[in-house]
Amino acid sequence: MYVKRQFEVEGSNLSTSFEFLDHTTRRHSARVAALATVLCDNLNVAGRMRDDIVLSAHLHDIGKGAIPSAILLKRTTLTAEELRLVRAHTQIGAHILRNSAQQIPATVALRHHEAWDGSGYPDGLKGESIPFAARVIGICNAYCLLRENRSYRKGLKHLPALEMLLNGDDTGCHRPSMFDPALLEVLGKCHLKMSAAAESVPL
Ligand SMILES: [Fe+2]
Repeated sequence: MYVKRQFEVEGSNLSTSFEFLDHTTRRHSARVAALATVLCDNLNVAGRMRDDIVLSAHLHDIGKGAIPSAILLKRTTLTAEELRLVRAHTQIGAHILRNSAQQIPATVALRHHEAWDGSGYPDGLKGESIPFAARVIGICNAYCLLRENRSYRKGLKHLPALEMLLNGDDTGCHRPSMFDPALLEVLGKCHLKMSAAAESVPL
């Protein structure tokens, strides 16, 4: 597998960090990587950038290894302090990956919850100030989160999840303005391939 090979080549401590992730987060990350591969291919992103984006997908939530599972799996609303802690997985992940030979995984770990309209975290970056790789992983991550079962709700089927990304929902929690419009457009064109990629990794 690409990730394992990279770890061996670099001789870093990343594989140890990866092993700390819970089963659900590892499956989620593999699903995001499968989607990112399809999206890169449909964006004509190839070579080292494509490889780095796929590697970053596997590692984007590595900071969650430091968050207590009682909080990650909590069925009720998080307190403000718990939410702050969960959101810190971005900075923790970037810290874990800071000495990697590639810079993109650390950047993606830090920026994959930033939103195109500035409503994301940790820094509320907007538009193209969010690194491209993080925008790609951000939209793949959002689709996977909608499809997956969570402790507090059941996952959506493909078309309702796609609809929520493309057109948002009544609550305003999901808004197309959160995503790079160019990426949303490509996602709309290759959505069947992305659905198949997501479903290739068992829940
Ligand atoms: Fe995350």
